[in-house]
Amino acid sequence: MEGRGALSEIEDPVAVPTGHAEELEKDIQRVLITGTEIQDKLRELGEAITRDYAGHELLLVGVLKGAFVMMADLARYIRLPVETDFMAVASYGAATKTSGVVRILKDLDHDVEGRDILLVEDIVDSGLTLNYLLKNLRGRRPASLEVCALLKKTGIQRVHLDVKYVGFEIPPDFVVGYGLDFGEKFRNLPYIATLKPEAYGEA
Ligand code: IMP
Ligand code: MG
Repeated sequence: MEGRGALSEIEDPVAVPTGHAEELEKDIQRVLITGTEIQDKLRELGEAITRDYAGHELLLVGVLKGAFVMMADLARYIRLPVETDFMAVASYGAATKTSGVVRILKDLDHDVEGRDILLVEDIVDSGLTLNYLLKNLRGRRPASLEVCALLKKTGIQRVHLDVKYVGFEIPPDFVVGYGLDFGEKFRNLPYIATLKPEAYGEA
């Protein structure tokens, strides 16, 4: 590491691949948010979080599986010594409509009482998953509990939720990429996109 500025390297956007195999992109209809736009936004959010949590021991809690891509990038834009943990919940299955039923498939490894928790979510759609998670985590008596969501669909939340950090507000269409899936696929796209109607028939 000698002679290298580790912190200044975090300034650089994570490499965003531009070319893709045809097979991966054949079902993509339209790119809504490019990889570069996502990185710029996450850098902004990371800076805000760095300011807001200075002097605190932040615990980032990623909601699997959707948040795994964002979590990796966001964590590197936060210039504080953070800890990370993950929860896995099931809400959608392979379909595109929410069931309202949330099941915890993997719980936290840490005891979070007295901790400053920032929940990292890929997308707030109906808000039911987040609502359930917030209630559940509040019951564990953290010192603070806030949410950072990359995407928020406009106007369709069925419950009122305070999401402190939001990346982008998007129309209520189904999207994939950057962690978001359809039938477990497309999570590895570096951008957010809609799918061609015919793609839904195949999963
Ligand atoms: P909610 O409970 O309706 O807010 O949705 C929660 C979960 O559904 C999200 O964390 C996603 O995993 C999934 N989801 C919601 N909207 C989309 C979408 O447009 N594409 C892919 N997954 C979605
Ligand atoms: Mg999810």
